[in-house]
Amino acid sequence: MVHLTINGKRIRAKEGATLLSVIRKAKISIPTLCFHEALTPRGACRLCSVEVTRAGRSRIVTACNYPVEEGMEVQTHSEAVMRARRVLVELLLARSPQVPLLQELARELGVESVRFRSKKPPDPCILCGLCVQACSEIAGIEAIGFVMRGTQRRIGTEIDPERCVACGACEYICPTGAIRMEMGRIRTMRLSNTGMERFCRYMRMGLLDFMICSNGFECWRCEVDQEMEDRFGTPPVFALKPGRKRELQEIEGMPFLPELYYSEEHVWAKPMGDLIRLGLDAMASYVALGARSVQLSSVGTEISKGTVFAVLERDGKKAGIHSPLSGTVLSANHRVEESPGLSWKDPYGRGWLLMIRPPYPEEVYDLRFGTDARRWFEAKAARFSRALSQWGDPRSSRRGDPGDRLEKRIVEEHWDQLTEFLWGLRC
Ligand code: SF4
Ligand code: SF4
Ligand code: FES
Repeated sequence: MVHLTINGKRIRAKEGATLLSVIRKAKISIPTLCFHEALTPRGACRLCSVEVTRAGRSRIVTACNYPVEEGMEVQTHSEAVMRARRVLVELLLARSPQVPLLQELARELGVESVRFRSKKPPDPCILCGLCVQACSEIAGIEAIGFVMRGTQRRIGTEIDPERCVACGACEYICPTGAIRMEMGRIRTMRLSNTGMERFCRYMRMGLLDFMICSNGFECWRCEVDQEMEDRFGTPPVFALKPGRKRELQEIEGMPFLPELYYSEEHVWAKPMGDLIRLGLDAMASYVALGARSVQLSSVGTEISKGTVFAVLERDGKKAGIHSPLSGTVLSANHRVEESPGLSWKDPYGRGWLLMIRPPYPEEVYDLRFGTDARRWFEAKAARFSRALSQWGDPRSSRRGDPGDRLEKRIVEEHWDQLTEFLWGLRC
């Protein structure tokens, strides 16, 4: 913990927290334009500036990306800060006089006239960059970006319009309404494709495994679109945060995904907005490879933390997998029920098991994560691996089609031992 004062009031804050988060927690309001909870703060608009004094020296810093420090004194509304904010709003108004958000800010800050003039026609875009960041950090696409320099600087799709997946993150996040998704243009582009190239936009975002659009890309009257919004919120692409760049690592010849939360039950959890996806880790997916059937809790079931939510079965023997979290089942991956090997082939992707809505989403933070998860996985995988190699298994994190592979035969022969090793015998 660090100790600081904000407007003369003593505050305790978590090390590494940003000044903005602590100021907001203290119920003090300061303006922001380029800040969004889902994105990395960049300090671009400088409207969140505050005055910080340390060791007798004062300076103006941007609160959204400045970390708290021991002993710092912060003034959120000093004369210097207010002056800086007024000048910034004047500059923004000179460029975008018609933007209601800026007019409102000007009123709040007491800006009565604008001393600056722009030679260009009014532009609703204030160049905050949120749309560019959302496209890159949330959708992982980078279809739009800043183009040109100086007074010519603007947002452009010239980089690669073909890459746009029509997720709508830019339109949603723009604070001024300057960016509009041209669905008509996107439709024309997509309709020019044929057959298998006509993928649904949610498949292109990575939220659906496979879906060919049979609705002429008229998402506004499509059940799939409605279902995705119901499931993930608006817009659904935000469920992908923190991005979809998966960095699969290899531990003892088994895949490990560092961005997930892991439980002792060999179940991983992935927060997606206020929903959580559950699946089996690489070790547990071995047991699934040898299972004859996988039975998942059905949609609508309320599962409690510590109760069985999936059952693997082989020759009448069953292994129950306990849920690390409570929640209502929103969807179950029937592909795994039809083909248990899918969980082994792609344990952290297409082999997921359930999507749940937890009553207490913060419980996920009690699971193993980061270095703790990695150490735990290493220790377990080392022992698991020794057992497998004595039976002759050539482990590899590159998992192809299970088919009649050696791994499958070994797991089938030693299913009981593996099940006992991971969970003890149950059910
Ligand atoms: S289009 Fe909107 S979100 Fe993008 S930079 Fe301009 S104001 Fe910001
Ligand atoms: S119309 Fe429906 S199926 Fe087609 S891209 Fe839009 S949401 Fe997907
Ligand atoms: S909100 Fe902090 S710099 Fe824009």
